[in-house]
Amino acid sequence: MQRIKLPTHIAFIMDGNGRWAKKRFRPRAYGHRMGVQNMFKICSHAFRLGVRIVTVFALSSENLSRPQEELDELFDLFRSYFGKKRERMHELDAKINIMGDISVLPPDIQADMIELMEETAGITDRLFNVCVNYGGRQEIVQAVNRAVSYGRFVDEASLSSLLFTGGLPDPDLIIRTGGEMRLSNFLLYQAAYSELYFSGKMWPEFSKRDLERAIVNYSARDRRFGNVREE
Ligand code: FPP
Repeated sequence: MQRIKLPTHIAFIMDGNGRWAKKRFRPRAYGHRMGVQNMFKICSHAFRLGVRIVTVFALSSENLSRPQEELDELFDLFRSYFGKKRERMHELDAKINIMGDISVLPPDIQADMIELMEETAGITDRLFNVCVNYGGRQEIVQAVNRAVSYGRFVDEASLSSLLFTGGLPDPDLIIRTGGEMRLSNFLLYQAAYSELYFSGKMWPEFSKRDLERAIVNYSARDRRFGNVREE
């Protein structure tokens, strides 16, 4: 049997929490709560399989225009898992990195996030990127503005180094649940050669087996990066 090619970096668009809850006649907040639980289950499994970098889309810049009630519920989840339930993050045994503009979040959450990043800064073999108030276009604009402020032109490598993911390998595999087939402003620069995998399952029901299926599917793909394959 052929060996499985494991992605080094997997990124998840965890879509479908709201619809999953609605189908069960429960509030959207319940979908998000179950979504976080599943995030820990699936990301731990990815690390256990040997994936080194996992990136999750926890809140997009555009999500900030959702009703305040839903945002407050999401903020409560952040408050909880970056605060008193922080142990759950530590159990991932990964360096935690927050990507996005967190300056708009309540100050207590910002402080907890920074503390958690500091507490895990020494972990070198696993990285967990959490995108919060993140937008791919905004990230590129910010990187270009930084280069301009240094009085520099950019090339591909220098622009890449100014992104939140500076120095990291691009995602090999991006998995989106919830049935939609788009990137929704996620890792636009980094996704140039990522393999995309779309699942019809809603995020809270995406299982470890589904993750394994996605990895096997990825493994069978022929990644040519614009080149031709040697016969
Ligand atoms: C998309 O589903 C999901 C989100 C906007 C939020 C995802 C966030 C989490 C799972 C929480 C992350 C928490 C921590 C602590 C990192 P949707 O609500 O847009 O689903 P829908 O398309 O069915 O409405």
